Amino acid sequence: MKALVYLGPSKKELDERPKPDIAAPTDAIVRITKTTICGTDLHILKGDVPSCAPGRILGHEGVGVIDRVGPAVTAFKQGDRVLISCISACGKCVYCRKLMYSHCTTGGWILGNKIDGTQAEFVRIPYADTSLYPIPDGSDEEALVMLSDILPTGFECGVLNGKVQPGSTVAIVGAGPIGLAALLTAQFYAPAEIIMIDLDPNRLEVARSFGATAAVNSADGKAVESVMKLTGGRGVDTAIEAVGIPATFELCEEIVGPGGTIANIGVHGTKVTLHLERLWDRNITITTRLVDTVSTPMLLNIVKSRKIDPKLLITHRFKLDSIFDAYEAFGQAAKTKALKIIIDA
Ligand SMILES: NC(=O)c1ccc[n+]([C@@H]2O[C@H](COP(=O)([O-])OP(=O)(O)OC[C@H]3O[C@@H](n4cnc5c(N)ncnc54)[C@H](O)[C@@H]3O)[C@@H](O)[C@H]2O)c1
Ligand SMILES: [Zn+2]
Ligand SMILES: [Zn+2]
Repeated sequence: MKALVYLGPSKKELDERPKPDIAAPTDAIVRITKTTICGTDLHILKGDVPSCAPGRILGHEGVGVIDRVGPAVTAFKQGDRVLISCISACGKCVYCRKLMYSHCTTGGWILGNKIDGTQAEFVRIPYADTSLYPIPDGSDEEALVMLSDILPTGFECGVLNGKVQPGSTVAIVGAGPIGLAALLTAQFYAPAEIIMIDLDPNRLEVARSFGATAAVNSADGKAVESVMKLTGGRGVDTAIEAVGIPATFELCEEIVGPGGTIANIGVHGTKVTLHLERLWDRNITITTRLVDTVSTPMLLNIVKSRKIDPKLLITHRFKLDSIFDAYEAFGQAAKTKALKIIIDA
């Protein structure tokens, strides 16, 4: 089968690999129909993710059809159409029992990281019963690819942890796919204001069309003043960090109002300054989270009922044969205006 293989920092190839086999009774082999590229795949290619060794097939998102199941799989059979979760969950360990699937002691984020992933014609999914979801009849499969990772991430790490409330004020720093997913799912709770902050005018424009009530381009270094002006000097109730660099987390520290919450989503590779000298008396909460994908069944219902349309996030489409072009378009998002790219396997 064809597969996109990580060969070490800045190196990848589209290689011929053997089709995966069932390795444990709880495994399923899924024939990938559609997959995509995540910002995290770019982090891997930069060498930022040491757990991902050279030789690994990348990808942790996608939909497909069950090709084979191990003898212990009871929820799925050959031919079933499935959504693949970016998080594999045994369902039994201490963390899974607390619904913290991301910390599953033998699963978590392993796909396209510690085991071969979805940017291929076939993938082996461990713990298939608790890591795959049946695709409801009549669903748009491209839209569902957005449910493998980015929608649950924006919702769980940003909106739920950020305690977005009706009538509240929210700022989202970073209008990439994750920040936009937080923007779409924040609206379940009818906040009064959602202020989107980014450097990219195109992404801010997209954010406005997705329901942001204000868009702040922070390139001029005056984002704090702008947010304070928009909030009558109070700051926001929820500041969602969806970039993953010190400057944007520190921006959240400056714009969060008394009693507010900073919900961090970004993957941080360097030290960030916590300004407790300013924050100690402001009754704020800071949260961090690796997506657990516990909200996937709810999000499947929401998408089915057309309360949100995740397909709005899809800007480009490529065949698996042209996956290098897909990486190129995704990596140059400011130029290509790419958000999410569908790869047809
Ligand atoms: N916690 C989790 O479970 C989890 C899961 C998936 C992804 N992530 C992380 O979420 C983050 C966002 O992911 P993404 O795919 O949307 O990334 P992305 O790179 O596509 O988007 C980041 C956005 O931030 C903007 N930006 C960069 N520097 C900025 C600055 N100084 N001020 C304002 N905006 C700035 C960029 O223009 C871009 O639009 C990444 O760090 C990713 O690794 C976390
Ligand atoms: Zn991802
Ligand atoms: Zn577990």
